[in-house]
Amino acid sequence: MTAHFMVIGNPIAHSKSPMIHQAFANQAGLDIRYARQLCPTDEASFIAVIEAFFNGGGIGANVTVPFKQMAFDYCQKNGELSNNAAAAGAVNTLYYKNEVLIGDNTDGQGLVNHMLSMDWQLTGANIAIIGAGGAARGVILPLIDAGVASITLANRTLVKAQDLIADLRENNATIKAADIQSCETSALTGDFDIIINATSIGLTGDKLPLSDGLTCSKAYDMMYGKSLPFLSHFENKGAVTSDGFGMLLGQAALSFLLWTGFAADVNKAKTALQDPALGDRFWR
Ligand code: ATR
Repeated sequence: MTAHFMVIGNPIAHSKSPMIHQAFANQAGLDIRYARQLCPTDEASFIAVIEAFFNGGGIGANVTVPFKQMAFDYCQKNGELSNNAAAAGAVNTLYYKNEVLIGDNTDGQGLVNHMLSMDWQLTGANIAIIGAGGAARGVILPLIDAGVASITLANRTLVKAQDLIADLRENNATIKAADIQSCETSALTGDFDIIINATSIGLTGDKLPLSDGLTCSKAYDMMYGKSLPFLSHFENKGAVTSDGFGMLLGQAALSFLLWTGFAADVNKAKTALQDPALGDRFWR
């Protein structure tokens, strides 16, 4: 029997998730259909679509922009949240377990798994994260759980970084006990093991005001698919760099694991996505 999945968002036509999950399903030998579901942006429509999907026998849904917070609210009222979803304040993965709707967030652990797969050492690492929006928020607990020594959260608007840390500390004991500092992006300086760009600046072509005194061994941009000035900046300073494509695959693999119990081989899927049969549609 075909197992049904979907990703709900607006816009959604660009989503690569159907091809990624098809590649995982091929590995698992599972018969799936994974749909892109466009939805009007109001909450009533979102809830109606989610309920229709699960009432109709759907197994699992991914949630993307602009619905991740709505999915969080819905699960808070009608289901359960994983620790990562609770800390992130956002849900990207929905499914039923023992008749309870579960809202999880696999984005941050997807980033961690991608870094570990590249042999980037996280245990004891000093990390800087630039950005204090939803993307930054979602990676903080998984990085702490991975054993990093410290996190410096830098943002253009300092008060947003401070508010984010205060809010996370208030709601999560692990984060409360962690070494987390904040500063303005232009004041971020010193040498870090890893610097992560969690701003949305890659979409605009603007450049971050990075200080000359800021260096790192490794630089990671959560964006992917185009040339990223943030990565060139640190490449020129001798750092190893990565874009966020592996994070996209990593979060998808974790959703697939929650839904099916199958741990997909992300590198094998990456190769499969380069196959012209799938790849034509994938890279477009
Ligand atoms: P997301 O959910 O992707 O994190 P967001 O919540 O809108 O999106 O957050 C965007 C982040 O990118 C913020 O940290 C924002 O900085 P501000 O809090 O100061 O707005 C950062 N950002 C976006 N454009 C930027 C720019 N041109 N320069 C510096 N930071 C930028």
